[in-house]
Amino acid sequence: MNHLIAPSLLSADFSHLAQDIEMINRSEADWLHLDIMDGVFVPNISFGFPVLQHVAQLCTKPLDVHLMIVQPEKFIPEVKALGAMMMNVHYETCTHLHKVVGGIHDAGMKAGVTLNPATPVCLLADIVRDVDMVLLMAVNPGFGGQKFIEHTIDKVHELRELIAKTGSKAVIEVDGGVNLDTGRRLVEAGADVLVAGNAVFKAADREAMIRKLKEL
Ligand code: DX5
Ligand code: ZN
Repeated sequence: MNHLIAPSLLSADFSHLAQDIEMINRSEADWLHLDIMDGVFVPNISFGFPVLQHVAQLCTKPLDVHLMIVQPEKFIPEVKALGAMMMNVHYETCTHLHKVVGGIHDAGMKAGVTLNPATPVCLLADIVRDVDMVLLMAVNPGFGGQKFIEHTIDKVHELRELIAKTGSKAVIEVDGGVNLDTGRRLVEAGADVLVAGNAVFKAADREAMIRKLKEL
């Protein structure tokens, strides 16, 4: 498939959220990526469900929700109530990951499992068939605008092999430090979905940047 682009709302102008969401609606973006943080699993807090309910009402693109929180299974009903298409939980936060993935599916959403930069791809061997997406973090989660960790390219190759070997249908998403250069190399390595925060929202022409990222 052609790769997809999911701009991350974390880098938007929170004083003009409606305008930024309308820009996403007009653009060629495929999904909107929403980063929820708890100040525990990651050293930052972004926005929570009261804000995201308004975002969800305005946004016409499928919502890709990335939960950087402990005990993410507690919030399956809240994520579902947003009308989310995809719910991503971190491997590092789920002792009973298979059960959490089942709970997300039972709620009618697609399930993604996310790996921190230091968490190896091989740990997914017994779950990759059960998930719809694997989200590889290319930065340590918690903040936008960080430098891309080069080893992520190797992880995309490794994950492609694991997906092929196991017959998994999972797509590969990469999040953190994505720009025109790293994005092109990720797509060449086999990434299906690119999340982009600063690259999109700090660009002079944000819709043109989304188009350029799609054309990589
Ligand atoms: C970081 C978030 C990312 C962030 C990416 O913890 O998960 O989605 O918004 O921002 P950039 O693209 O600026 O690295
Ligand atoms: Zn994210």
